[in-house]
Amino acid sequence: MAEPIELESARLHLRRWRDEDLPALAALSADPEVMRHFPAPLGQDESAALLGRIRAHFDEHGFGLWALERRDSGELIGFTGLLKVSFEVHFAPAVEIGWRLARMHWGQGLASEAARAALACGFGRLGLEEIVSFTTTGNQPSRRVMEAIGMRRDPAGDFEHPLISAGHPLRPHVLYRLRRDEWEAAHG
Ligand SMILES: CC(C)(COP(=O)(O)OP(=O)(O)OC[C@H]1O[C@@H](n2cnc3c(N)ncnc32)[C@H](O)[C@@H]1OP(=O)(O)O)[C@@H](O)C(=O)NCCC(=O)NCCS
Repeated sequence: MAEPIELESARLHLRRWRDEDLPALAALSADPEVMRHFPAPLGQDESAALLGRIRAHFDEHGFGLWALERRDSGELIGFTGLLKVSFEVHFAPAVEIGWRLARMHWGQGLASEAARAALACGFGRLGLEEIVSFTTTGNQPSRRVMEAIGMRRDPAGDFEHPLISAGHPLRPHVLYRLRRDEWEAAHG
């Protein structure tokens, strides 16, 4: 069992999850606007299962989707982090970076700030060679985060998400990539 890594950024603690985080995770994951680019918002049981999977990933790998806690208020505002791609797809095996924040915390640069801390951990401490990110084609806010943190779209990497049913409008996905040498070149 790996000891979970925790990170800090200017405005956030990227910390391990606690049992008492479930209501906040469930609330933001039940918000239809937050989940607009997913097949459906999550019910309470689905969020509990998600929290279990997130914690199991930390136990196995030491990293994962960190709980984001605002340093100014102590609030749990969502998650950002690194995750082993768990389904069969042309770019796997790979580690992806992803994020989900409660709506009232959008528009403040917090997702990008957390993502930069996660990238630094991935390329630094974890020694990863590449980190990918992907989202449904129309998810512009998420694509903006990918671009803000220096990821580049791989147009040849577009794919149909295998866990979303054929013909579903959210099935076509775009792929972004960032290699360690590119990240190092941008960060001295
Ligand atoms: C994707 C998501 C995390 C992006 O959140 P976000 O707050 O827009 O992203 P950032 O943290 O990069 O913030 C950027 C915005 O903050 C603004 N901003 C304000 N202060 C800032 C600062 N100090 N630094 C950087 N940006 C700042 C930027 O101008 C930008 O605003 P804009 O979107 O109006 O152009 C959010 O939309 C979300 O949780 N969506 C639902 C879940 C989801 O789809 N996840 C991705 C699945 S693949």
